[in-house]
Amino acid sequence: MFRLITLFFLLPALYASAVTLPTVKGESLPDTDGVHVNAHGGNIIKIGDTYYWYGEQRGDGSEGSYQLGVSCYTSTDLATWRNHGTVLAVNDRPGDPLEQGCLLERPKVVYCPATDKYVLWFHHELKGRGYAAAQAGVAVADNPLGPFTLLKTSRVNPGYYPMEMTDEQKNATYADKLEWWTPSWRKAVSDGMFNLRDLPGGQMARDMTIYIDDDGRAYHIFASEENLTINIAELDSTFTRHTGRYTRVAAGGQNEAPAIFKKDGTYWMITSGCTGWAPNAARMMKANSIMGPWEQLPNPCRGQGAETTFESQGTYIMEHEGNFIFMADRWNPKQLNDSRHLWIPIQFDADGTPYLTLE
Ligand code: GAL
Repeated sequence: MFRLITLFFLLPALYASAVTLPTVKGESLPDTDGVHVNAHGGNIIKIGDTYYWYGEQRGDGSEGSYQLGVSCYTSTDLATWRNHGTVLAVNDRPGDPLEQGCLLERPKVVYCPATDKYVLWFHHELKGRGYAAAQAGVAVADNPLGPFTLLKTSRVNPGYYPMEMTDEQKNATYADKLEWWTPSWRKAVSDGMFNLRDLPGGQMARDMTIYIDDDGRAYHIFASEENLTINIAELDSTFTRHTGRYTRVAAGGQNEAPAIFKKDGTYWMITSGCTGWAPNAARMMKANSIMGPWEQLPNPCRGQGAETTFESQGTYIMEHEGNFIFMADRWNPKQLNDSRHLWIPIQFDADGTPYLTLE
């Protein structure tokens, strides 16, 4: 009798959690209006039984088309997606940081328990300045469907040295023009030349993700120093401000598109190289602590397409019922709104090393 009753209570719970992961391998993914999901470089979070998918809401590439902002779609089965429009929109106010023509790339939304708000971080570029601003934007909302209000957009951690930087490195001076990629330039980059250059105004922040560790702390992980070095920067309990505590990872390694997960006490980060919209081979790193040291590992992709991450670039690793799903974009630079989505369940070797394959 006891068993029967237990089963009676367990069954609905089991049933409710069993959402089959659909196959997403770069085909067109129509929403409930029949339009391809226009949410790129983003992330998916689950609130109650609902999945929220946030991403770049891109233009169609026609003359005068521009990015609309950050979009949100919802689903209860990960297969049927309903469009909720723009949750953080660009505007037509001249000089506004979100003036039409600006870029809001790689948006990530997380829930903050301390404030009971939804926090949206994104890589922000100002109108007319290409990729020179290299700022991080943060916006908040009471509701996962927004609207989000912009709190701040800026470079990151002005005045703060990375936690591992030695006094010698802090006090180093560098020749004005070191030729790129020479051994002395490489050494200078590794020692923190660009970090020191940007220290007063804050570090450059481009491709990014947000990671919430299992102790509840949040981290902003981004490509910094001219896309040469990844920074992992701790956020405060509101998830909207940096604490000033951060580490530099793979200095000079040119990593972009960071995505991260933790399994059995090990942190794994999958990144791309820096080739713009064109795909390249993914890289992987692992660490026992989020603040490093991080160990560089080979390309985690296997089989056909491994050298181009299956013609895509990662954006997020979603935990789904005990599994980890590598979400990626197959960019279409001529028509960014039609960039395709790939969701690749991460597999593990017998020794626990993650790998990705489409086979
Ligand atoms: C990629 C980056 C994208 C976008 C693109 C622009 O390297 O990952 O998010 O910024 O460059 O060329």
